Amino acid sequence: MKRYVLAAVLASAISVVPAHAQFAKVEDAVDYRQGAFSVMSYHFGQINRALKGEIPFTAESVSANANLVATLAKLPWIAFPAGSTANSHAKPEIWKDPEKFKQLQEKLVAQTDKLATIAKEGDQAVIKSAFGDTAKVCKECHDTFRSKH
Ligand code: HEC
Repeated sequence: MKRYVLAAVLASAISVVPAHAQFAKVEDAVDYRQGAFSVMSYHFGQINRALKGEIPFTAESVSANANLVATLAKLPWIAFPAGSTANSHAKPEIWKDPEKFKQLQEKLVAQTDKLATIAKEGDQAVIKSAFGDTAKVCKECHDTFRSKH
């Protein structure tokens, strides 16, 4: 899992996001996307902790975390082979309504890019509002496409 995420982050750092991934096994795709989501979530959570004052708020660290979130938000979507629900919280609705799923991916990418741009300015109130807007997109997709158990 770590291996895939690291490879993808390195690839995107040099602006070559893989358009298609060839996963040898369905489990590899599931590992890849869960890995990408959990690394993204960690860095997203660090922004939240800084906003709440649990860790120091510095423009540099918030901006670094927001850049990682924006990069990582582009990754999971290549790893949803049709019907891959085993050992996963992915709901079958993903393949029943691919348009809606895609629309929410694009919304997340746009919103996290916006958050990364805003984070550079270092204005805490503005970052907080963009963070909240991004969290709404996470929730919107999870409510429809991710099972709780
Ligand atoms: C377009 C839909 C979509 C959006 C937007 C989205 N997620 Fe998810 N997320 C999913 C799906 C589907 C899964 C279940 C993946 C699986 O279990 O195979 C998931 C799983 C996760 C997981 C669990 C990963 C694991 O280890 O099993 C975390 C954490 C997570 N998402 C965080 C986030 C955060 C944070 C955001 C917003 C910044 C976000 N997600 C936005 C669809 C989305």
